[in-house]
Amino acid sequence: MSQQFVLVDVKESVARITMNRPDKLNALSDAVLDDLEEVLNELETREDVKVLILTGSGEKAFVAGADIAEIARLSVVEARTMALRGQALFSRIEDYPKPVIAAVNGFALGGGCELAMACHIRLASEKAKFGQPEVKLGIIPGYGGTQRLPRLVGRGMAMELTLSGRMIDAAEALRIGLVNHVYAPDVLLNEAEKLASEIAVQAPVAVRFAREAIHNGVDMPFGHGCNLEAHLFAALFSTEDMQEGTKAFLEKRPAEFTGK
Ligand code: COA
Repeated sequence: MSQQFVLVDVKESVARITMNRPDKLNALSDAVLDDLEEVLNELETREDVKVLILTGSGEKAFVAGADIAEIARLSVVEARTMALRGQALFSRIEDYPKPVIAAVNGFALGGGCELAMACHIRLASEKAKFGQPEVKLGIIPGYGGTQRLPRLVGRGMAMELTLSGRMIDAAEALRIGLVNHVYAPDVLLNEAEKLASEIAVQAPVAVRFAREAIHNGVDMPFGHGCNLEAHLFAALFSTEDMQEGTKAFLEKRPAEFTGK
């Protein structure tokens, strides 16, 4: 992989994806989004990759938002195209068949906060800062932020953060449920890798269906969500990994999953 703005490092079933434009705090220009999309395409079919970790390069930022220099030049029509493109890419991450963990190492603002929210699990460094500061620029979030933030932290808090544009620190993000855990900066990636490895050894199809049941079911009426769960639960009984997992338990040995 030879993308300029997104680095990939694969180690023991875990791909670390680093947003790499540190001089602009990893702001999401069109070119950065192109690179990210290409990387996601390539990793989707790689059998040696089971879990993805998304982080930012440099000391300061995860991603400081969409590229304001690019935004400043957009026409109305281009602005709509930009929002739809970013939304589609972030929905792609949310629907990605492999778990994606955001390791938020610094500023996660605007599109950066939206990118983290599209990931399945968020971990943060004590130095991380979150916010949707778009109103300060005379715009609103355009990459799904007005929809994902209230789903994660509730309407009231989403309103407060989005209408004020205020930044919050990692402790506050933890308190409101925007991130799962906060770690010292020097151990964040280590902890993300530990969690990724914990997931990577589980039965891959079960992990995928569990994510689908939670993500697709949570916005359905409860009964429909349970129905989806039952379908996915039953479908797993056609996998070799289900046979292996149950047999290994009964034989008191570790399971060896193949993803089939
Ligand atoms: N788009 C484009 N460039 C950005 C950017 C963004 N979202 N965020 C930061 N940058 C650039 C700065 O313009 C600066 O470039 P320069 O050195 O060529 O002037 C460089 O990144 C470093 O940023 P700087 O502002 O000098 O760092 P700081 O530590 O003083 O401030 C922030 C950090 C995050 C508070 C500040 O950069 C900021 O407010 N960024 C914009 C956040 C935002 O509104 N995001 C939503 C966009 S829709």
